[in-house]
Amino acid sequence: MKRVLAVIGSPHRGATYRAVQAIEERLVMLGGVEVEYLLLREAGLEPCRGCFLCLAEGEERCPCRDARDDVLARLDACDGAIFASPNYVQNVSGLYKTFVDRFAWCCHRPRFYAKPALAVATSGGPFGLKETLSAIQTGPASWGFVFVDEVGIGVHPRLGAGDESRREADRALDCAAKRLHEALNRTGPYRPERWRLFQFRSMRAITLARPDACPADTAFYRPLADRDFYVEARFRRSTVWRPRSSNGWSAGTSLANMRPSPDPLRMGDRPADRGEMQELLSRVGSPPHRGRAFCRCTERISPSSIRAW
Ligand SMILES: Cc1cc2nc3c(=O)[nH]c(=O)nc-3n(C[C@H](O)[C@H](O)[C@H](O)COP(=O)(O)O)c2cc1C
Repeated sequence: MKRVLAVIGSPHRGATYRAVQAIEERLVMLGGVEVEYLLLREAGLEPCRGCFLCLAEGEERCPCRDARDDVLARLDACDGAIFASPNYVQNVSGLYKTFVDRFAWCCHRPRFYAKPALAVATSGGPFGLKETLSAIQTGPASWGFVFVDEVGIGVHPRLGAGDESRREADRALDCAAKRLHEALNRTGPYRPERWRLFQFRSMRAITLARPDACPADTAFYRPLADRDFYVEARFRRSTVWRPRSSNGWSAGTSLANMRPSPDPLRMGDRPADRGEMQELLSRVGSPPHRGRAFCRCTERISPSSIRAW
């Protein structure tokens, strides 16, 4: 039985909760899946205090005394997840943002590779639905979750959904449930997208260049010094990611078309110059078939690049 954790960022059992229930029904019909709910309004996570201790010194140094470790244990234990939030003023709810901030250290030290996930947003209208779906994925994607689909559902808080929107929503929910179900049962090596390879290499390069800056990151990346990625993976050699829109990527051109872009890495509060960048990258090594693509991707890491694997 595969365990899916549904993280709900709505402060009540409203439209967002019902959308996730609809996915649960479909997953159960497909078989072999159980869904547990994590209602963030009940989790009692305190807002981040901004001390940076979790990132620099280690997550155990967080001064908030609350249920964060229980939430962490549930994220660790699941085989996949559904991350859901309503659109409140064109973004995720405050509850959801608090949740994401409290796990900011996982952006530096990902630990959920490569669990499949869905993003679910509900919205009264079209304004901000895309932004909400994107914001739902930003944090968990950089913690290692692999989003296999996103579902945005329009439900007017007073009028509900019309027949046509209901039909559309049903189709989107069917498709999302199938994709998650498929991904939960997939075997074989994980194939990371290029932005994830860049995340690994750039975080490792930056960390090991200044091992005193964030000792928790240094302890995490040192044992990975000779590795290709956080976890065992197979790489796609024939494709690279290139801009599809202002915030999107699509697989396309060959490596031959890639140009290194200037100053993709930062040194403290200024961009690294080309020599520093090359030095940083050379410390971790860049296999020839991939090195140039990393340079190009650096300015454009985007959660919208997330695709099924
Ligand atoms: C505080 C608040 C802000 C909202 N802001 C937006 C908005 O910016 N755009 C929009 O289309 N709908 C907006 N809505 C409508 C909600 O997105 C919509 O009703 C959603 O389905 C609520 O989900 P829930 O029942 O889980 O809270 C807002 C609702 C609330 C309560």
